[in-house]
Amino acid sequence: MEVPKHIAIIMDGNGRWSKAHAKPRHFGHKAGLESLKKIIEAAAKRGVSYLTVFAFGIENWLRPNDEVNYLMNLFLTALRRDIGRLHENSIRVQFIGDRQRVHADLIRSMQEAESLTRDNSRMTLIVAFNYSGRWDIREACQRLAEKVAANQLSAADINEDLISQNLSTAAWPDPDLFIRTSGEQRLSNFLLWQLSYAELYFTDKHWPEFNEAELDKAIAFYAARERRFGKISEQLKGTENA
Ligand code: FPP
Repeated sequence: MEVPKHIAIIMDGNGRWSKAHAKPRHFGHKAGLESLKKIIEAAAKRGVSYLTVFAFGIENWLRPNDEVNYLMNLFLTALRRDIGRLHENSIRVQFIGDRQRVHADLIRSMQEAESLTRDNSRMTLIVAFNYSGRWDIREACQRLAEKVAANQLSAADINEDLISQNLSTAAWPDPDLFIRTSGEQRLSNFLLWQLSYAELYFTDKHWPEFNEAELDKAIAFYAARERRFGKISEQLKGTENA
């Protein structure tokens, strides 16, 4: 079965899962972290090269203070506690997103995780933290505009590749498969540019319930798709002149 090289996930439904179990919301975030750890290992085992997860969106600052604080502490604790295990498993960890509003302790741990794991090659885990797709595109526009203003680039030379190269994800191929849990069928300002050709998979399972078997269902869905990138089926099969 063809395994997607790059999977991007919106890990949704921690709150609804908590509610269904009559527990406070933080219970679901804790369970969500356990789910994430299992899925990282499962994805690496299946030969996925890049796994991008939406851990915290720029809009998530709008949640109640105590939930935001809980999430920040959870990220910091998880990074400190679990980075060794990721490193032992040869997982490279990288972060994308606006680091401006993020607490200094967390930024330091993010940088340490990136430098500790920089030579790991089994799989790259990309954590989108304080990220939004529009923020990413705006940053790329600013970088390009600055080059034009400095006469290093002509506006007419801005093409799609150049835009891709100026996004925070420049180092990696675009996702092949996008997964969103918990029933919502939205991109919610995730990788807007990068998901242009991804297969979109939605499941009603809440993120804490998303396990290896659920990942396999998503991969099977992907493997059954025919990705045409604008062409027609016969062209892909080589039975028609391209
Ligand atoms: C969405 O559920 C989840 C989040 C906003 C946070 C994601 C965080 C984790 C899975 C924890 C671990 C992650 C890292 C990187 C250490 P929701 O709260 O939006 O659920 P709801 O829509 O049901 O309320």
